[in-house]
Amino acid sequence: MTTTEITPASSLAPLPPHVPQELVFDFDMYNPEGVADGVHEAYARLQAPGVPDVVWTRHNGGHWIATRGQLIRGALEDTKHFSSECPFIPREVGEAYDFIPTSMDPPDQRKFRALVSVTVGMPVVDKMEPRIQALAVELIERLRPLGQCSFTKDFAEPFPIGIFFMLADLPDKDIPYLKNLADQMTRPDGSMTFAEARDALYEYLGPIVDARMLAPGDDAISKIASGKVDGRPVSKYEALRMTGLLLVGGVDTVINFLAFCMQFLAQSPEHRQELIDHPERIPAATEELLRRFGLVADGRILTSDFEFQGVQMKKGDQILLPQLLTGLDERENACPMHVDFSRKKVSHTIFGHGVHLCLGQHLARREIIATLTEWLARIPQFSIAPGATIGHQGGIVSSVRNLPLVWDVATTKSIAASGL
Ligand code: HEM
Repeated sequence: MTTTEITPASSLAPLPPHVPQELVFDFDMYNPEGVADGVHEAYARLQAPGVPDVVWTRHNGGHWIATRGQLIRGALEDTKHFSSECPFIPREVGEAYDFIPTSMDPPDQRKFRALVSVTVGMPVVDKMEPRIQALAVELIERLRPLGQCSFTKDFAEPFPIGIFFMLADLPDKDIPYLKNLADQMTRPDGSMTFAEARDALYEYLGPIVDARMLAPGDDAISKIASGKVDGRPVSKYEALRMTGLLLVGGVDTVINFLAFCMQFLAQSPEHRQELIDHPERIPAATEELLRRFGLVADGRILTSDFEFQGVQMKKGDQILLPQLLTGLDERENACPMHVDFSRKKVSHTIFGHGVHLCLGQHLARREIIATLTEWLARIPQFSIAPGATIGHQGGIVSSVRNLPLVWDVATTKSIAASGL
């Protein structure tokens, strides 16, 4: 799907009898109306005056959408009625999605979550910190003398992918292959189905998991493959499903978040200058950018007929709980579209909420802070290449299609990585 396609009326699902006409809202999460002005602006239409807090769209098979932070949090907390068994929309993608622990509900989810957390928890991230910083510096120093780059291709992709490959101890030559499979799962271009991309990923990982079950190292795949759940060793299939999540959940999200941030900083010299003058504000600014540029939108499936916020839902209905919308809700944050690095209370659910709260959030924050710190120290002044049009795309993870940046090399500074 592309942002320029218009969904033909024939592909709109019929309205189920239990959905009142007044709750119908035209919203295609893969191609939201108004995306040409920015994907967040397109999503903000769901919070315009007069739009109900829960709506139904006939796109993508037909599903509910919770539009406000309070409801998004409420549904994410209520695992009894809102199950992760089919977390992606449309349904056929959600049904093919079998990653662990995101496709599970408690109590099983908790057992697998404990094992996955060992692979990306704080101690691992602390240990990786110097390598994260070194990779950021290496990539930026390579680009600095060129005066231009495609930020997405030349930095946003190789940086988190390189870190994931370090974490998982995989060979760099396989990066393009795995990147394409991850893309097909979150923003399919029609070249393969979700199930085909998932199977290709499992086929690639299969021999690696086998080898590390027999002779585990210190990497994330080894920790998972040699791990135990409920006192028994994990099966190969379970190991594949957990490893698949680390790749798909941990790479595409960071790539696109970095691109949204750098687009904003390229277009807002005042915000950029604030961070150049006050690098100590970068951690707080990161939190504000996470609020403003959320990008994940997944959902849940109803386990039984249930009345949610006065709306009668049916067993088997899907509901989109756009984690990116909470930060844009004016009931949570005043003037939500405005970026204010000194905002006092920053409210968002970019990393989800409740039992599935992102396990990789510490790693993601380190990657973002390293990028902003090292980039602004070396290439403080940059802008979007003249004549370039920046396009956004919706999806389970929203994205920036391409971000060509330019700068005057005379304004840059070469600095070796510190403390290495
Ligand atoms: C900006 C970057 C990231 C964003 C926006 C993000 C967002 C999310 C969200 C919204 C969820 C919850 C999904 C749900 O409730 O259905 C989640 C879960 C998860 N994320 Fe992230 N994530 C990011 C980076 C990462 C990284 C770097 C990793 C690891 C390499 C990672 C690993 C995970 C895992 C393992 C879960 C599953 C937790 C569970 O189901 O218990 N994420 N993430």
